[in-house]
Order: sequence, then C-alpha cells, then structure tokens
Amino acid sequence: TSDWNGNPYVILRNPQGASARISLHGGQVMSWKNEHGEELLFTSSKAVFKPPKAMRGGIPLCFPQFGNCGSLEQHGFARNKVWAIDNNPPPLPPNDSNGKSFVDLILKPSAEDLKCWPHSFEYRLRVALGADGRLSLISRIRNVNGKPFTFSFAYHTYMSVSDISEVRIEGLETLDYLDNLFHRERCTEQGDALTFESEVDRVYLSCPNAIAVIDHAKKRTFVIRKDGLPDVVVWNPWDKKSKAMTDFGDEEYKHMLCVDGAVVEHPITLKPGEEWTGRLEIVVVPSSFCSDH
Ligand code: BG6
Repeated sequence: TSDWNGNPYVILRNPQGASARISLHGGQVMSWKNEHGEELLFTSSKAVFKPPKAMRGGIPLCFPQFGNCGSLEQHGFARNKVWAIDNNPPPLPPNDSNGKSFVDLILKPSAEDLKCWPHSFEYRLRVALGADGRLSLISRIRNVNGKPFTFSFAYHTYMSVSDISEVRIEGLETLDYLDNLFHRERCTEQGDALTFESEVDRVYLSCPNAIAVIDHAKKRTFVIRKDGLPDVVVWNPWDKKSKAMTDFGDEEYKHMLCVDGAVVEHPITLKPGEEWTGRLEIVVVPSSFCSDH
C-alpha cells in the first residue's frame, strides 16, 4: 500500500500495463486504466478524499443500505469506513484468481457502526484485474451475528464517458423500473435502448446479467456482467442537481454515468452463519466488437 490524497491505497497492474487503484477508504476502486493508460472511471475534480465523507467517483460500495429508504445514512456506511487488507481470505473458486492480479480487503463493524446497525458482519471484497484488463469485484458478506439481518447493496459505478448525449445502454429495454424522481413510482421502459437528455435516477428491476453501455463518440462499450445482483441503478444528475452538489463540477454530468449492479427491490436476508456473494465484472471493448459478435 502507498498513500494517495492522504489515503492508503493498493495498486494492481497487469503485464499489458492496465491498472486499478483501490483506496482503503471505502474499499473504493478510485481508478481503472486500460493498457494505454486511459482512465475508464469518472472521479469528480471536486471530490473530497477525507473520511468520513464518501469520495465522488470510482466505485463506492453501498452497504448495508442503498439510497435513503431506511434508518441509515444515504447508501449506508461501508463507503465511509477505512477497510483493512485481508491477508488470509477464505478460498474463492480458481476462476476468481487465475491469471489475475488481485487484492482482498475486509470490513467489520466498529462499536460505533453497531450502535446504528446492530448486526455483526464480515464483508470481504476482492478486486481483481484480469490479463485482458477486465475489472472484477467480488463481495462476500457473512452474518456473524446471533440473529438474521437484511441489507440492500450497490456497486455505485461511475463510468467515464466522452459525452452523455452520445451514450446508450442496451439490456434494460422493456424492463420495469422504480423512478426515484417520482417517489419510486413503478414504470416500464418503452424505448429501444436507454439514452440521456435529462436527469435520470432509476432502479431497473430483475435485469439480465449482461448490460452494455455504448459510448458512440469514443467507439467503445463497457460490458457489465453481474451475478447475485438482480437490479441495475442508472443515475445521471444532469445540470440542476450537479450545481447543488458541492463535490461535483457544474458541467461534469456530461462526462459520467452511474450504472450499478445492485440489490434494491428485494433486500437480502442472511441467517446466522450465512454468506451472500455479489459479483461484478466490467470489460471495455471496441464498439464494433459488440455489433459483430
Ligand atoms: C444514486 C441515487 O445511486 O446515487 C441518487 O439513486 C443519488 O438518488 C446518487 O443522488 C448519489 O448519491 P450520493 O449519496 O453519493 O450523493
């Protein structure tokens, strides 16, 4: 680990030169670069890098609560905590480590966390960078409590895009979603693919396990694969909301899009001793690759 903006972090590299930087503050992936050194995740120029605030960008982990429907602070406390390196994680299937550079982190609740959420858990996070540059995150959350507990979850993924009006998402057509801009009203997606011309804050329900975010101007596509994460949150604050956020530039909404693998509609309940696993994998491919294959 080294220090970046006052936060300890770990850097992963693959032989082709791709890299990922993971901050122990929040267990948050703060940078993911391809083999040409291009940044693939968005971080605001106004982001604040000091605990206990979450950093605006990268991949914050929303746990044990997504959003503000619950008794906890918005998106839960995991993203505001300092995580530890897990030197002795329980084994994962060989596919989760073969040919990859990876780091294992762990979060356990502090006495203060237990006051606002009285459930003991162990949250193990593996972040891995593949030989082909793909980024994967595996979350394993175990109930080490005497009683069941329930949580919602999201990998709040800020993708860097060249121009939001040139971006479309494929894979969410015809699905139902909860619209956070209209009191979580349940609606059905009508269009062919999702495009952006105003604020969007939605939770798409029971989504397929592969979603494509196509950046026309950059001619590249983020392919998101997920497992254990039925919902997909799509968020862009657009102009008015951007101006209201102190840690976000007024024009930055044009260059970011959050597409999160999540568990929102039906939260997970873990009995004592049970463990839940949620996997997210993102790979960036040239856009022509997607239409040809
Ligand atoms: C999104 C929510 O996932 O996160 C939005 O759907 C929210 O409603 C956004 O504004 C950012 O949240 P925060 O707490 O990081 O400012």
